[in-house]
Parts: sequence; structure tokens; C-alpha cells
Amino acid sequence: MADEFLTRADFERAAQYIASRTQHHPTIGIVLGSGLNALADRIARADVIPYTDIPGFPVSTVAGHTGALVIGEWVGKTVLVMRGRAHYYEGYSMQRITLPIRVMRLLGVHTLIVTNAAGGVNETFRAGDVMLITDHINFVGMAGANPLRGPNDETLGPRFPDMSHAYDPDLCDLARAVARENGITLREGVYVMLAGPSYESPADVRVLRLFGADAVGMSTVPEVIVARHGGMRVLGLSLISNSLASHAQVDHAEVLAAGRAAIPRLTALIQGIVERIS
Ligand code: HPA
Repeated sequence: MADEFLTRADFERAAQYIASRTQHHPTIGIVLGSGLNALADRIARADVIPYTDIPGFPVSTVAGHTGALVIGEWVGKTVLVMRGRAHYYEGYSMQRITLPIRVMRLLGVHTLIVTNAAGGVNETFRAGDVMLITDHINFVGMAGANPLRGPNDETLGPRFPDMSHAYDPDLCDLARAVARENGITLREGVYVMLAGPSYESPADVRVLRLFGADAVGMSTVPEVIVARHGGMRVLGLSLISNSLASHAQVDHAEVLAAGRAAIPRLTALIQGIVERIS
């Protein structure tokens, strides 16, 4: 879709609807990527709100993305889990796919944990690895498709937000510590977003490697930009669902299967992080 400029009223409408459906006051938001939905089953006293019920919420049409908010208690924290997300390639505008992040902020969420499935550009990465995102390349945004394009509402954030520490250094340290203590190997690197939905050609992968990307996917970056615009702290984790080093074909079913295999590790990691977030 071309540009679409949403306003605070759009975000407030959705936030008010969600507040009417739950007694919880979440402070931590978790976005679950392709194949990673199982974590949502851990949430206690959960209120489950299908995206189709929420005014203005984008609804994902992709296999592996059953769209609902799961709001409840987890390891002593009140969390809002997005079970599935909508993508730019589905035809939504940048502002529409990031509306849920704005809504979380209005509901009181101050810390965002974003997850995704990604292709491994770094030649040392293997399918099933978990990567801490330490920075991103906004490839789609460089060409103009930035979720902040359009009028800026100063009550939501500044016109020119800083992205020098988009991935919170303290949360990165916490993730490293939890991984170490739980014997989980944690890769680190730069995530690059491409619009998709076609996977990368071998020449695309060579370009991404030259750029300094370690992992490539079709989400996350717009959400992180909007979260930082709104002053949220962000932690990003990629599940490397396939290696792009070998020029092997990428298959969506394989992406989902790698997600299933890595769920126990990724869940343990996120649980340890959420437990210790201040
Ligand atoms: N490329 C882009 N997005 C992806 C990939 C990939 O190889 N794997 C999972 N999401």
C-alpha cells in the first residue's frame, strides 16, 4: 500500500478497546515471529483478544501467524504478547503494521522484545541458532518506506529520533548473561529488513553480506523504529531458520520447522530476560 497517515486518535481507539477487554496493565511487550507462537501458551490468567476484534489492527494472512494479543502474567511480570504480526509485504502501510507498537505504548508498555525468523547471511550461522540483534539496516526505509514518514505528532515522539542505540545496551547485556547462565549459545549481529515476500537471490545475499548484515528478514525494523520514536526500550532476537550461505532453496515450511526446534531455547532465554527486567 502507498502511504497512510494514522493519528493518535487511531491508536487511542485500539488502546481503549483492549483496555475494555482486560484488567491487566502490561509493561512488557513481546512480538512473536514466524513459528514462535508457542511462548504465548505460558502466559497465566491470559486474556486473548483476536486482532480481528481490535479497531484498526492489521491482521496477518500468513501461515504460522495466528493473530491475537495474549495479555497476562509471566514470571512475575505483566506482559502483552503479540501472537503473530502483520508484514509490509501483505500490502499494509508501514504505519498500519506498526500501529500495535503505538497501541502498546499507550497501554503503558515501556519495554519491547521483538522476535523474528531470519535467514542467516553470516556464513558461520546455522539453522536453529539464536541471534541477539545488536543493530539493524533499514534497507526498505532507505528507499523511503519509513513508518515515521508523514506528519509527526510530537506527543508520540520527536521528528528525528536517534537510532544510535536502538537495541538497548543494558538489555543486550542481560540477554548475554541469561544465555551464559542457561548454557544457550547466543550469536550476535546486524539484522537487515527486506520487503519480501520473495526470498533473496544469491546475488542479493552477496550484497547484504557486503553491507555488513548477519541476518535478513521481512519484519522488525519498522516496529523498532516506532518503539524508539515512542521512547520504549527494545531487545531483538532472531531465530536463524535457514542458512543463506549455501545458495540452498528457502522453504517457508522449513522456516516454521526450525522455529519449532528452537522454541525451548528461545523461550528459556526470553523467560530469563523477562524475569530480570527492571
Ligand atoms: N530471507 C528472508 N526472510 C526470512 C528468511 C530468509 O532467508 N528466513 C526466514 N525469514
